Formats: sequence, structure tokens, C-alpha cells
Amino acid sequence: MKKVMVVFGTRPEAIKMAPLIKELQIRKNLEPVVCVTGQHKEMLDQVLNTFSIKPDYDLKVMTKNQTLFDITTKILNGMKNILEEVKPDLVLVHGDTSTAFSAALACFYLHIPVGHVEAGLRTYDAESPYPEEFNRQAVSIVSKYHFAPTEVSRLNLIKEGKNPDTVFVTGNTVIDAMMTTVSDHYTHPDLEWTKESRLILITAHRRENIGRPMENIFKAVRRIVEAFDDVKVIYPVHMNPLVQEIAQRTLDGEERIRLIEPLNVVDFHNFMARAYLILTDSGGIQEEAPSLGKPVLVMREHTERPEGVEAGTSILTGTEEENIYRQCSKLLSDLTVYSTVSERSNPFGDGYASKRICDIINAEI
Ligand code: UD1
Ligand code: UDP
Repeated sequence: MKKVMVVFGTRPEAIKMAPLIKELQIRKNLEPVVCVTGQHKEMLDQVLNTFSIKPDYDLKVMTKNQTLFDITTKILNGMKNILEEVKPDLVLVHGDTSTAFSAALACFYLHIPVGHVEAGLRTYDAESPYPEEFNRQAVSIVSKYHFAPTEVSRLNLIKEGKNPDTVFVTGNTVIDAMMTTVSDHYTHPDLEWTKESRLILITAHRRENIGRPMENIFKAVRRIVEAFDDVKVIYPVHMNPLVQEIAQRTLDGEERIRLIEPLNVVDFHNFMARAYLILTDSGGIQEEAPSLGKPVLVMREHTERPEGVEAGTSILTGTEEENIYRQCSKLLSDLTVYSTVSERSNPFGDGYASKRICDIINAEI
């Protein structure tokens, strides 16, 4: 029996690791050990409850307004003790968070092999997304196995000199997670409120957007609501106090904009399914929206997910108010443009990524 430790700490990592944990649990010769860092608290618990996952270890590192120094040092030191106790044969980390970076670094220091899930995404601009571009490149350096979601991400790794025998295209596990969440019969009071309107669903939380860019984004949202009287906006606001302050200050008080608490992932996926379009600076939502045929305006300067832009399912708007307003107005006004974007298929996965990753682990370790 080989011990496979799965380490994660934030909401998106939990959503994307959950199907992999479920798959590991049914493999006879693999023993999953679940370790959460607690980089997120409430937003992590929402996902653990939804997928009925009980962590074996929890570092509980989150504090209000935590800095990158807080997260990185606490996780690095905390992981040392857990890794020395468990002695896993392989540790799986996910993506580009400080949890992934610090856990992978701890493994490197202890000569424990790392498998990187969602490997090879790149903007090659260390400031955007910040600090995620650094985190994922650093994880790639110390990883033994690279589970790339797409051919684009595989090629990034090959161009960087990784041994092709260690890089596997698997699809993104977030699409596996979506197989169980969306239902035609789903209802929610906030969706009832939007019934006769077109729903724009928003999320925004990126560190590099906090401040002026986020204010620009929200100003554009207000203008859209003023210009289109059949539009209603729902924004489940991220729990970061800095994000909450900007959202309250710039969006509160508008009748057709609702600021709500973060939704659990089942709710959020069903809100996406009912939305007319999605405005976001999130990574994961760019991958999920095409499965539901929803156009995504990506309010960032760069994306590490060019597959969506190339497939025509995502439109990169940057963070200037005028451009966000213009692109959004175009989608709301022109049905031909809207239909072209919404009818494309999903380039990020087919729902079998976790199965492929476990097959590879079985064969390799
Ligand atoms: C982190 C990741 C980012 C990912 C995002 C997903 C890093 C550096 N950043 O950013 O890549 O896109 O998660 O959402 O790893 N908070 C709570 N409760 C929670 C979660 C957060 O109160 O459940 C508040 C806390 O005050 C915390 C703050 O939000 O200090 C920021 O959390 P943090 O994990 O540092 O950054 P995120 O922006 O969430
Ligand atoms: N999500 C959620 N509730 C919300 C908003 C988002 O469950 O209120 C989910 C969403 O479906 C996606 C993930 O959280 O799977 C994205 O997380 P986030 O935007 O926080 O991080 P990123 O993907 O940018 O790292």
C-alpha cells in the first residue's frame, strides 16, 4: 500500500482536489492521507462539508489579513512535522497558492517526491497573477510528476526543459467536480429575485487587483446596471477584508446589485448555470464556465488559461473601466456575438482527470 498525501488549503484547491481524494479512496493499493493547511477557514470548510472530506491533519494557519510571510513560514514549519510523521510515498499539491509552494518546498527539503496537479499554467509575468506565477514555477522545479490539464500547459513544461516522461495531460479535475453539482431542479431565493432579468454573476479577489483596478471593475459594473434595466447582478464577496471594503464602498446601495456571502460550490455552480454571463478575475471560473456555455469576461491583464480565449469562451478585458463596460455591453446587446461565445465546447477537461491521475500514480510509484 503506497501512501499518497494530498495537501491543500484554499477554496479552489479543495474543489479541485476533492474528486481526486474520492478516486484515491477507491483505489486498492493507494492510501490517501488528507492534510489541509487551513490557509482559508470558512471558505475551505464549505468545500470539505460539501464533499464530506475529513482531513487527517489540519495546520489551521489562517489569520485575518494574513501576509505572504505568515502563510509561507507557518506552512513550511508545520508541514515538516507532519511529513516526518507520515512519511508519504508521494505528496500531491495543487496549482499556484502559497499552500502549494510551501508544502512542495517542505517536501523538497525532506526528499519526498511531489506530484503537481494543474501543472504548467504560465503567464511568465511574476507580478501577474501575484504571487501565483512564482508559486507555480517554483513548484514545477521541485516536482517529480507534472499533471498538466491541457496540451498548452504540457508544452510550457516541455519548453522549460522538463523530462517529457514526467509530464502527463490529464484534463482539469475541476470539471470532474462539476459532474456532481449542477441540477435542473435547483432553486435559491437570490435566483428567484433574478427570475425576470438577465443575471450577471461576479467574483473578484486577486491580490494584484486590490485597490484601483478593483474600483475600476466595480465602477464598470454600476454603469452596466444603469445602462441595461433588465440586468441584475449577484456578487458573492470573497472574505478578504480588503475586498469586502471596496465592494461595500463602491457597490452597496444599488437596487439591482446584491452583495452576498461566499456561496458553497454547489450553489455557486448552479448560480453559474443560471447566469447570462460571468465577470471574474478568478482562475477556476474560467475553466468551469465553458462547461455551462456561459461567456466569461476575465478582468485581468494576463491569463494563464489562453485555451479559453482561443476557444472564444473567455474574453480578456483588463481592468480599465471603459473596456470592461464596452465588452460587457457588446455581449448584452448583440445576440449573435453572445451565441458565438456561449456555444463553444470546454477546452479544459472531460470529467475524467482524477481517474487519469490515479492511473498514472499507480503505474509510476
Ligand atoms: C488565496 C490564494 C489565491 C487563490 C485564492 C482563492 C495565495 C497567495 N493566494 O488568495 O491564489 O486564488 O486564495 O480564493 O495563496 N479569509 C477569511 N476566511 C476564509 C478565507 C479568507 O476570512 O475562509 C480572509 C482572511 O482575512 C485572509 C484573507 O481573506 O487573511 C486573504 O486570504 P489569503 O489566502 O491570504 O488570500 P486570497 O486572496 O484568499
Ligand atoms: N466558488 C464558490 N463560491 C463562490 C465563488 C466561487 O464555490 O462564492 C468556486 C468556483 O466555482 C471555483 C472556485 O470557487 O471552483 C474559484 O475559486 P477562487 O475564485 O476563490 O480562486 P481561483 O480559482 O482564482 O484561484
